[in-house]
Amino acid sequence: MTMMKKLQASAAAIALSTTAVAAQEVEVLHWWTSGGEAAAVGTLRDALAGGGVGWVDMPVAGGGGSDAMTVLRARVTAGDPPTAVQMLGFSIQDWAAEGSLANLNDLAAEQGWADVVPDALQRFSTYDGNWVAAPVNVHSTNWVWANTALMAELGIDQPTDWDGFVAALQAAQDAGYTALAHGGQAWQDATIFDSMVMGVGGPEFYQASMVDLDPEALGSDMMVEAFNRMETLRGFVDDNFSGRDWNLASAMVINGEALFQIMGDWAKGEFVNAGQTAGDEFTCFRVPGTEGTVTFNSDQFAMFNVTDASAQAAQTEMASAVMSPEFQITFNLVKGSVPARTDIPSDQFDMCGQMGMAQLAEAAAGGTLFGSMAHGHANNPSVQNAMYDVITAHFNGEYDAETAAAELVTAVELAM
Ligand code: GAL
Repeated sequence: MTMMKKLQASAAAIALSTTAVAAQEVEVLHWWTSGGEAAAVGTLRDALAGGGVGWVDMPVAGGGGSDAMTVLRARVTAGDPPTAVQMLGFSIQDWAAEGSLANLNDLAAEQGWADVVPDALQRFSTYDGNWVAAPVNVHSTNWVWANTALMAELGIDQPTDWDGFVAALQAAQDAGYTALAHGGQAWQDATIFDSMVMGVGGPEFYQASMVDLDPEALGSDMMVEAFNRMETLRGFVDDNFSGRDWNLASAMVINGEALFQIMGDWAKGEFVNAGQTAGDEFTCFRVPGTEGTVTFNSDQFAMFNVTDASAQAAQTEMASAVMSPEFQITFNLVKGSVPARTDIPSDQFDMCGQMGMAQLAEAAAGGTLFGSMAHGHANNPSVQNAMYDVITAHFNGEYDAETAAAELVTAVELAM
C-alpha cells in the first residue's frame, strides 16, 4: 500500500470510529465536582457505558448550579446546547417554556413514570402536560451533619430545639473548635436560610414568604427573627469561612475540626466518600425547629432538543437509565440523596437515608413538603437570585435584621 493509501485508510478508520462513538454519546452538563458528587457521576457514567452510551463530561463547579446555568445559557445562545443537563425546579420550567427541551412522553408512558414519581417532583418534570425531565433523586436542605466523637467529647446530646442547638454550638466554640462549618457563598447562606425561615415560622410562613412571595410575610417580624437567627449562626463560623466550598466545610466536620454543618444531604456523599458511616463517625438530624418538615430539591436531567437521530437515541437511553429502579439505588447511596421514585425499598440505605425516605413520604402525605428556595424549587431564578443577594449581604454584615427583611420585600418585588 502506498503511503497515501495508508493515510487514506487510517483517516477512514478514524472517521468510522468517530461516527461510531458519536452515535452513542451524551454530553452532560452538571455541577457535580466534589469527591462525593464525582463518585455519584461515576455511577451514572458506568450505567450508560453498560448500555453502550459514551459520556462527554461538561462539569461546571459551583453548588446550587448558578454557574452551570450561566454556562448553559451561553452554550444555547451559541447554538450548541449540550445533549443532557442537570437541572433544578423552576429552571426546568423556564427552559421548557422556551421550547428548548425534548419531549420524553413515549418513554415515560412505556415505563409508567407517572405512577412512581411523586407529585411534588412531577410538578417540575412535566411542562404543559409533557415530560421534559427525568428526576434522579430527592435531596433536602434542612439537615445538620455532626461529628459524633466531638459531640461525645463535649458532652453534647442531639439538640431538639433552637436553644439547645445554640448551646451546643457555644460549647464547641468555648472548647476551641469551629462550631459551625460553613462556606460564605450566596447559595450556602441561602441553604441555611431555608431552615431559619421554616424553623421560625413553620410551614404556613414558609409557604407565604418563600413560595407565595407575600410582601407582608417577607417583611414580617418572623422574617426579622429568621435573619436574627442567621446572625446567631454567623457568630459560630470561623474566620476563614468566606468563599469556602461546601465540601471543604463538610471536610471540617469529617476531620473533627468542626462540630456541625447545616447542609443538604449531598454532604452525606462527602462523609461516605471519606469512608465514614452514618450513626458511627457522623450523624444527621433535622435542623432544630424544622422537624416534621422537609425542604427539598430534586436533581433532574433535561434533554435539549437535538435533530440528530443517534443523539436522540442516546438521550432516551440516558433518561431510561436514570429512571431505572436499580440505578436509583446505586446512585443515591453514593450521592446522599434518596430515590425520586416511591417504589424503592429503603433497606440498602443507611440511617440517614432511611430517615430521609421516611420523612419525605410523611411530609408529602402531611402537606409539610416544600421546595427549597436556595435550590430553585420555591420560586423562579430571578426571585431566587434577588433573595440570595439580600441574605448574603445581611450575613456579611451589610444590613441588620430589620433592614434585611425590608430589603427582601423590595428585592422580591423588583424581581417578580
Ligand atoms: C444542589 C444539587 C445537589 C448538590 C448541591 C451541591 O443544588 O441539587 O445535587 O450537588 O447542589 O453542589
